[in-house]
Amino acid sequence: MEKLSSKSSSIYENLIGINSMVAELIPSYVGFQNDIYMMGICGMGGLGKTTLASAIYYEYSNYFEGSSYIANVREKSEKGKLHKLQQQLLDKILGGSKKKINNVQEGVEEINSSRLRHKRVLLVLDDVNHKDQLENLAGKRDWFGLGSWIIITTRDEHVLVQHGVLKIYKPNGLDDDDASTLFCSKAFKKEQPEEGYMQLSQKVVEYATGLPLALVTLGSFLVGRTVKEWQSALDSSKNIKGNIHDTLKISYDGLEEMWKKIFLDIACFFGG
Ligand SMILES: Nc1ncnc2c1ncn2[C@@H]1O[C@H](COP(=O)(O)OP(=O)(O)OP(=O)(O)O)[C@@H](O)[C@H]1O
Ligand SMILES: [Mg+2]
Repeated sequence: MEKLSSKSSSIYENLIGINSMVAELIPSYVGFQNDIYMMGICGMGGLGKTTLASAIYYEYSNYFEGSSYIANVREKSEKGKLHKLQQQLLDKILGGSKKKINNVQEGVEEINSSRLRHKRVLLVLDDVNHKDQLENLAGKRDWFGLGSWIIITTRDEHVLVQHGVLKIYKPNGLDDDDASTLFCSKAFKKEQPEEGYMQLSQKVVEYATGLPLALVTLGSFLVGRTVKEWQSALDSSKNIKGNIHDTLKISYDGLEEMWKKIFLDIACFFGG
């Protein structure tokens, strides 16, 4: 496989630790010719799955004969719009499909019988949470031409297993150095902590346990605040049982609620 192009510097510039994640997801045996590669990225909310999938799409789509990035699959299909996603896929890859897709079954027939199977495509299905979504958007490998890459992100590994996806990458979160760089980029707008904030930063980074969403959110929350305020925020975070990983490792619906609770707990130290 060819190395990342020079274009990569622009997209990867603001993303931290992304090169090693790309290398883990797309090992060197993955190519552009002899097989159809279905790859899953799986892990808890805020881990960076969408970020990784978008970076790959941006970086590699030019190498394919057609490409489509389908965002928010879970949300759209819960609203009964799965056939619209099928239409979006066909329109983008075939450059405007002649046929209007009225329902999911029509979509399956059209994708299966279309010119798609002669095209080498890059398809990203982001945030999938049910096997039906995969069956209706990428039902079988032979729907697509040889050399195609189908990249699926999900919080639920079981969905990938049910669909027979063999290559599953589970990001571990950022290591300490990368986590600190991401946090500092938000909290101080540079890679290192300001003077007097070194230890406090280390504690926040420890608390965030490598989870990008936590690092970004906490950094943006603490930017411009005094040492005293940071200290208060850290003290209040101790009242939250367990670490942030355990706190956030819950269902879809609970995630946003839990963030609200964490910030309410912290914010009360700043007088609301
Ligand atoms: N490698 C990275 N470098 C910099 N920022 C990152 C990185 N990975 C993730 N982020 C940031 O962390 C936040 C969460 O990332 P993202 O939305 O990709 O998570 P996710 O795993 O797709 O979550 P969900 O399961 O909720 O869809 C975003 O603000 C994103 O910009
Ligand atoms: Mg996502």
